[in-house]
Amino acid sequence: MTSLDTMSTEDVLDILGIDAADRDGCRTLLAERSDDPAVLEAIASIQRSFGSFNEIPVRETTQEELVWLTAYLLLTPTVVAWHRENDIPERVMRDTLADVGRHVAISRRVTGEFSLQTWRWLLHHFTVRIFALGRLQFALQRATLSVPDVFAAGDWVLAVHIPESGPLTPAVVDASLAEAKRFFPEHFPERPVRVVTCDSWMLDPFLLERTTPTSNIGAFIRRFTPIGHFSVGHTDALYFVFRTRDLDLVPSLPRETSLQRAVIERLELGQSWEVHWGYLVL
Ligand SMILES: CC(C)(COP(=O)(O)OP(=O)(O)OC[C@H]1O[C@@H](n2cnc3c(N)ncnc32)[C@H](O)[C@@H]1OP(=O)(O)O)[C@@H](O)C(=O)NCCC(=O)NCCS
Repeated sequence: MTSLDTMSTEDVLDILGIDAADRDGCRTLLAERSDDPAVLEAIASIQRSFGSFNEIPVRETTQEELVWLTAYLLLTPTVVAWHRENDIPERVMRDTLADVGRHVAISRRVTGEFSLQTWRWLLHHFTVRIFALGRLQFALQRATLSVPDVFAAGDWVLAVHIPESGPLTPAVVDASLAEAKRFFPEHFPERPVRVVTCDSWMLDPFLLERTTPTSNIGAFIRRFTPIGHFSVGHTDALYFVFRTRDLDLVPSLPRETSLQRAVIERLELGQSWEVHWGYLVL
């Protein structure tokens, strides 16, 4: 199930959108760590959850990021085959899996070396529960919260995610939401969805007050009705806008854009950024 016999290493790296700078690192992992017991254990853990849409959560058998990256490289033919067997369009499969290269590149930007800080995020992709539909990614999962008369905990919902890949114009968001409305009933009719949830620092009311409804971010966050639930995500805004979680760097960070200024302002006020929850009906 995890052999690369059915797909060449270069095909795997292409499908995962691995940058030129990170390809040798991936080739070395495959050459040297494919039989590593920690890798095999991580693969087994992913396989237990595979296709369960997180009803069987992945057991984190290690925190070693390159073990997970090796597992992802080895599992790519299986994941590609699953997409094809389930008639997922080739473009959706490729856009979804290209997030791996994006995250390896972000990790290099943050750490200066070949790495994968966000390995946990990519478990979504390798347990086949997230799909990139145009500009946005949608994870099919059971709701953990309820909104009276809209959805209940346990209902199937789509958790939306915004990859770093260009402007978030209302037109591309409309197109993604319209595609989600068609895609999920067609491919997963047994898991009916009508609600998109978002939990993000972007829904923090502090940002709402500092964006106009005509900006891309301002228009996006105003699509969501607040659920009234939040958690503290102190360094989340810092990470997504500046790609660092180091609060000591705040005084020296650029303040060129209104978003950069808003993120810094809150931290300099001594406040925490919060991860707020919202929903919209498809
Ligand atoms: C969300 C995102 C796509 C919005 O980009 P966008 O469409 O360019 O946003 P807007 O046009 O509304 O930008 C509003 C302002 O924020 C600035 N801005 C947007 N994204 C920025 C970023 N990543 N870094 C710095 N400034 C940014 C714009 O330059 C603009 O500044 P201005 O008012 O001074 O002209 C972008 O911020 C991004 O890719 N973020 C990383 C991914 C992320 O945060 N995902 C959410 C994870 S929970």
